[in-house]
Amino acid sequence: MKKDILDKFGLKNTIAVITGAAGLLGKYHAEAILQGGGIAVLTDIDEKRLKETASSLNNPYTKKVFSYPLDITNEKQIESIVEKITTEVGQIGILINNAANNPKVENSEKNFSRLENFPLKIWNDDVAVGLTGAFLMSKHIGALMAKNGKGVILNIASDLGIIAPNQELYKKPGLKNGNQPVKPITYSAVKHGLIGLSKYLATYWADKGVRVNSLSPASVYNDQPEDFVRKLTNLIPMGRMSDVNEFKAAILFLCSDASSYMTGANLVIDGGRTCW
Ligand SMILES: NC(=O)c1ccc[n+]([C@@H]2O[C@H](COP(=O)([O-])OP(=O)(O)OC[C@H]3O[C@@H](n4cnc5c(N)ncnc54)[C@H](O)[C@@H]3O)[C@@H](O)[C@H]2O)c1
Repeated sequence: MKKDILDKFGLKNTIAVITGAAGLLGKYHAEAILQGGGIAVLTDIDEKRLKETASSLNNPYTKKVFSYPLDITNEKQIESIVEKITTEVGQIGILINNAANNPKVENSEKNFSRLENFPLKIWNDDVAVGLTGAFLMSKHIGALMAKNGKGVILNIASDLGIIAPNQELYKKPGLKNGNQPVKPITYSAVKHGLIGLSKYLATYWADKGVRVNSLSPASVYNDQPEDFVRKLTNLIPMGRMSDVNEFKAAILFLCSDASSYMTGANLVIDGGRTCW
């Protein structure tokens, strides 16, 4: 039997740049690219963890993994690294905008994560990484893709790019309502913004062979406190948080020709959370 459907998932040495690749999920996005037959170019502002992540993938994917330290809030640095990647590795075919600040839910008495106290500096820093960084990377790499007539941009959003955070999840016993920890506003603003950015770019470059989509994962289990996990899983129809490996197939689908007629879409992988 012909394997033409499975063939569409093959990346055939397509070069994929991943931002924020040294964090929790970056390595798994890279594995999806590598298992699909692509070349993974990892970038992150944290040089030490970037090196560690790249070397953890080098075996068995020798000569298919590259890494470049990069601060995506710095446009000059982006321009020079994009040029370097193009010269040293080759023409970029896939961009995964994955970096984010993931702002802290603050528990102290001062509680700067509450809206009334939220500092403008943290707002600016979070937006600079999560949203402006994705814009700048797309501006420079997307323009090259449009020139080449082919490319895929994938923005990693979140279930909180569709729904508001349920602040009940973060409540701590013994604190007054006005002092309760909350998920900061920047997470919502950045993730909703990324889905808008995807739609804008998708239509902007639709006639240039550049497809742009978002992937919205829900919370990944990563040893969070028991009380938080219990409250969160009560909000998820499937009754559990996701595993780090559960987005890889979707990454490969969205980055390959398997999704050739898909652009401007947001693929939600959340155990059903946003249905409730
Ligand atoms: N982990 C989850 O539960 C979850 C759920 C939904 C969505 N997401 C999203 O998935 C993506 C990856 O999540 P994660 O858990 O791996 O996050 P993470 O915090 O572990 O990793 C983010 C990475 O971004 C890097 N970064 C920060 N500022 C940067 C800058 N200026 N330039 C370049 N890199 C920078 C950090 O060094 C870090 O390695 C994020 O966009 C996150 O919001 C994660």
